[in-house]
Amino acid sequence: MTPASMAAAAAGAARTKAEGSRLTPADESSRCPYLVVRNPAAVRDVLQRPSDFSPANALIAVTPLDGPALRVLQGVRFALPPVLASNDTATHAGIRKVVAGFFTPATVAAMEPRIRELAQEAARTAADQLESFGSADLVQAVAAFPPAVVMLELLGLPVQDLPDLKQWGRDSMELFWGWPDESRQLELAHSAAGFYVWIRQLVAESSKSAGRNLFKSLAEHGLSTPEICSLGYFLLIAGQETTTQLISTTLFRLLEGSTPFVWDDAASHAGSNAAVRHVLVSESSVPTWRRVAAQDTNLGDETVAAGTEILLELSGNPITSPASPESPLPPWQTDQNKQATNFSLVFGAGIHRCLGAKLAELEATVIVQETATTLPLIQLHDREPEWIHLLSFQAPRTVSVTKAIR
Ligand code: HEM
Repeated sequence: MTPASMAAAAAGAARTKAEGSRLTPADESSRCPYLVVRNPAAVRDVLQRPSDFSPANALIAVTPLDGPALRVLQGVRFALPPVLASNDTATHAGIRKVVAGFFTPATVAAMEPRIRELAQEAARTAADQLESFGSADLVQAVAAFPPAVVMLELLGLPVQDLPDLKQWGRDSMELFWGWPDESRQLELAHSAAGFYVWIRQLVAESSKSAGRNLFKSLAEHGLSTPEICSLGYFLLIAGQETTTQLISTTLFRLLEGSTPFVWDDAASHAGSNAAVRHVLVSESSVPTWRRVAAQDTNLGDETVAAGTEILLELSGNPITSPASPESPLPPWQTDQNKQATNFSLVFGAGIHRCLGAKLAELEATVIVQETATTLPLIQLHDREPEWIHLLSFQAPRTVSVTKAIR
């Protein structure tokens, strides 16, 4: 099953699906609220027509929140007004420019030594745990914290409360992209409310601090406090937990031996980067993303009614996965244009394309490489870990390893 079809199955059976550019009606009685689009050309078409296919639903809870959870959020004046990822108005371009100023190609490239330093430190922690306890969880030891530290440093924000930040990020992902029942919603809403209050405090402090930081720049751009909090809430999750999840899946698949690359390959920059790109294309941490039809429009030959919610498959579609003897490329696709189709969609496309794409790829590559270099002789301790499977996020929760017996 592909990520999008797993997500669709979890939400109910797929109502319609796009194969090629055709949309095929499926079971009318099913409850999946999404039009699932899998064909890469159709996905790209949707992403590049923001006035027809709006991102306004990007941050709407997949499972409508019940009264008790809503009251907890209202209690802290929690609100996510459209600012960046879900903004379909003309203000998006100016705000995006402010945020992009913190992730320029030059800034990201200059961060590589710092990323490597953090990666080496994290890998040594894992090595120490292996020595002391005989096992280590690579998600906690190497994947979890470096992306959060790097993100906060790039944004000019204090590096503090990291364990809370990680927990808040995972909880908010589940609240907005998962299928929690009423009691779980309540737990998650308390966590999201705590996160929101923390962000509001940080926004207030940052606007008074001396140096350059994202929140201050957004205030200078004219954003209100609720708008800055909304952007901060999205970015402090999207800017680090997605990368943690990409690293976790890459480490797991390499150690499992289910990628075209082996653990030893990952000890080089090129080998690690190839493994990271393979995971991005085959089972990215963000396998799907949403859009909603802003007006009656068409996709290929089919009409799409205004208000139709769309689930785009960005990764994991068998026809977009690398060729192998068991699944050769379709005759109309060359290896070259196929790679371009694949990789160019995993971070979205068009005016909302991910602003952290280069950073995420660099972080994942360096962290996987340093882990494979420092721990050449390890093996999976748990080959069937629990996974995070949400509408738009996925990764193993743990990558538990022991020393290899060779
Ligand atoms: C493996 C890691 C990551 C993946 C797979 C990923 C994927 C995505 C996707 C699919 C989108 C939606 C694109 C669209 O609507 O066309 C997005 C948006 C975004 N991402 Fe990422 N992302 C990752 C890491 C990051 C990082 C590290 C940052 C920043 C530190 C970041 C910042 C953003 C921002 C700001 C947006 C919204 C852009 C806009 O609406 O203009 N992401 N990302």
